[in-house]
Amino acid sequence: MPPPTPIEPKAVEARTADTPEAEARPAGQPAMSGFRFRCIACGDLTDSAVQNFRCSRCGDLLEITSPNWSHAQGSSAPTAADLKTIWKQRRASLSPVDLSGVWRFRELLPTLENLHHVITLREGNTPLYDLPQCSRILGLPHLFAKHQGMNPTGSFKDTGMTVAASFARQAEFRWVACASTGNTSASMAAYAARGGLRSLVLVPEGKISWSKLSQALDYGAVTCQLRTDFDGCLRLLQELVLRAPVYQLNSINPFRLEGQKTLAFELLEQLDWQPPDHIIVPGGNLGNSSAIGKALLEMHDLGLISRLPKLSIIQAEGANALVRTLREAGGRRLVTVQAETAATAIRIGNPASWKKAIRVLQATGGACEQVSEIEIARAKAEIGAEGIGCEPASAVTLAGLRKLLKQDFVKPGESVVLVLTGHVLKDPDFTMEFHRGELLRATAESDSAVLELQALRRPPIVLDATLDAVIRTLEEQEKSNLHM
Ligand code: F0G
Repeated sequence: MPPPTPIEPKAVEARTADTPEAEARPAGQPAMSGFRFRCIACGDLTDSAVQNFRCSRCGDLLEITSPNWSHAQGSSAPTAADLKTIWKQRRASLSPVDLSGVWRFRELLPTLENLHHVITLREGNTPLYDLPQCSRILGLPHLFAKHQGMNPTGSFKDTGMTVAASFARQAEFRWVACASTGNTSASMAAYAARGGLRSLVLVPEGKISWSKLSQALDYGAVTCQLRTDFDGCLRLLQELVLRAPVYQLNSINPFRLEGQKTLAFELLEQLDWQPPDHIIVPGGNLGNSSAIGKALLEMHDLGLISRLPKLSIIQAEGANALVRTLREAGGRRLVTVQAETAATAIRIGNPASWKKAIRVLQATGGACEQVSEIEIARAKAEIGAEGIGCEPASAVTLAGLRKLLKQDFVKPGESVVLVLTGHVLKDPDFTMEFHRGELLRATAESDSAVLELQALRRPPIVLDATLDAVIRTLEEQEKSNLHM
């Protein structure tokens, strides 16, 4: 791939409030490139989208549809077997687009006019781990973790960002922007930097981890900490993109979700196309679950897999908008919440993609559950003890699995894949507070669940710098069987 094409500097011209939306810069591109935008509510099909990526008729979200590879198109489309072969062969290629674990699956992605527009950091290609200790504890022999925290910026966001940022570059935007709980901003800033774009980050002040914020700064983003929550940041961004030529890279942008589909393609390839019984994913703004569900349905339609795994979504109790939407409103209207959880990545009370998420829950027969702060902390420590680790938001998957097993929704003989969305280094404060016993101090210490956590804690030990002190510590640890 040639070096990134520099985007000519263009001034950000403010649009006036009365600028007609129809005149806004098209954010997508015409159907000749093999895809169209479809409104998820009224079904309206269009060839381009305005910058808020909302239906111009009814205002709901858009999704990308690719008529070219439906069965009806017949003979010219590659068969499922062809696709599997092409994708496997690309693993031996040295071309940057083939080395990307996203663009390797480009037959099922919206097509760029020219692959030279691709901005890639060799995203995807993430490991599928077994979890022997958790398997033993839960009595579940076939338990795996697909670790999206092993992406270039440490979260699953990179798989969507490579696609959406490449389309931003193709459309010659100079600025990209997002609202974020931290990971989207880190990812966007990195891809913008690689692609010669400028980036604007809107994050809730004091509510995201320093690790994530520091990434955005290092990659050169203009970073604004707004005195609001994530939902407030996203609301503001949606207004901004209608007023200024700024390309929005939140998961409302359907190109993001197209890239995030590749998690499922890669997972199924790693399982030799044998679908697991369950896939469990954290739910925040609900883009990722929607993307994985879309990928599963597409793979099923195309004959790449013979049956659908159940896709389940887990939320933190303090940020449980989808759980409440299903339980209190039968999924018919969104029940928003004032979100609060130490798993800051999913501290979201007004999830944008709730309708898409409900659709994939229904289509795959998945469940939606919530887990407490204590359950999240325990699960995070258990995943850490496997030598893998993840950030708190990812740990809701293991905590949720425990609940789904108790409810007999997941059965002991079934196979389960947990989607770990972020790297353990994304939130070191949470980890340090947990091991020092400071994390859940507000919770009553008599709570038996809190006491259970004691066994998982490994606080740092301060010693005199003598051989005796170190040997004594080793002996004490051996006696207490802590590492058995
Ligand atoms: N896990 C992590 C680590 C996340 O960063 C996020 C979302 C989620 C899970 C939830 O995914 O929103 O697609 O349902 N983070 C966004 C951000 C909101 O701004 O980084 P979702």
